[in-house]
Amino acid sequence: MKVKDSMVEISRLVLPEDTNVVNALYGGRLVGWMDNIASITAYKHSRKNIVTGSIDSLFFISPIRLGDIVTIRSFVTYTTRSTMEIEIDVFSENAITGDKKITTQAFFTYVAIDGDGKPVEINQIEPENDEEMKRYKEGEIRSAERLKRLAETKERIKATLKI
Ligand SMILES: CC(C)(COP(=O)(O)OP(=O)(O)OC[C@H]1O[C@@H](n2cnc3c(N)ncnc32)[C@H](O)[C@@H]1OP(=O)(O)O)[C@@H](O)C(=O)NCCC(=O)NCCS
Repeated sequence: MKVKDSMVEISRLVLPEDTNVVNALYGGRLVGWMDNIASITAYKHSRKNIVTGSIDSLFFISPIRLGDIVTIRSFVTYTTRSTMEIEIDVFSENAITGDKKITTQAFFTYVAIDGDGKPVEINQIEPENDEEMKRYKEGEIRSAERLKRLAETKERIKATLKI
C-alpha cells in the first residue's frame, strides 16, 4: 500500500464555537479534528475497523486564531502487523493576509481490529521515495520507543493504581 493512497488533507475555518476564552482554537477541538482526519487515513490504508492506540507528545507551537483557516494533513509513516503510525501536520493561515504557520506535528497510532476487538493483520506500507523511506526508518525507531513506554506505563499503572 502506497503512502499517497491514504493521504488526507482538509481545511476548516475557525468559528466562535471552536475557540477558548482568549479567541484561539481550543486545544481539545483541534485534537478531535486531528484524530478524525487520521482515522480516515487509517481506514483508507487498512480497510478494517480501527481504534486509536496512542497519541505521541503533542506540542502546540503557535496559536490558531478565530477566523483562521486550519489545514490538517495526515498520512501513514510506518506499519507493523496490525498497527499504523500516522503523521499529522497542522498549519494555520490568516484568511485575510494569507500568512501561514506550522501549528502542530504529531504521530498517532491506530490498531486494526476484528469484530471481537482483537488486533488483525493489515496491508504494510511501501515507501516510494527517499523522503518516505526516511520517515519509515524514523517511524521504526519511534515505534520501538513507544512500545517500551507502553510496557513501562502498564507496569506503573499496575503498581500505583489499585483498581
Ligand atoms: C489497541 C488494542 C486493540 C490492542 O489490543 P491488545 O490485545 O492489547 O494488543 P496486543 O498487545 O496483542 O498488541 C497488538 C498490536 O497492537 C499494538 N498496540 C497495543 N496497544 C497499543 C497502544 N496502546 N498503542 C499503540 N499500539 C498498541 C501492539 O504493538 C501490536 O502491534 P502489531 O500487531 O502491529 O505488532 C487494545 O489495547 C484496545 O482496544 N485499546 C483501547 C483502544 C481505544 O478504545 N481507543 C479509543 C480511545 S478511548
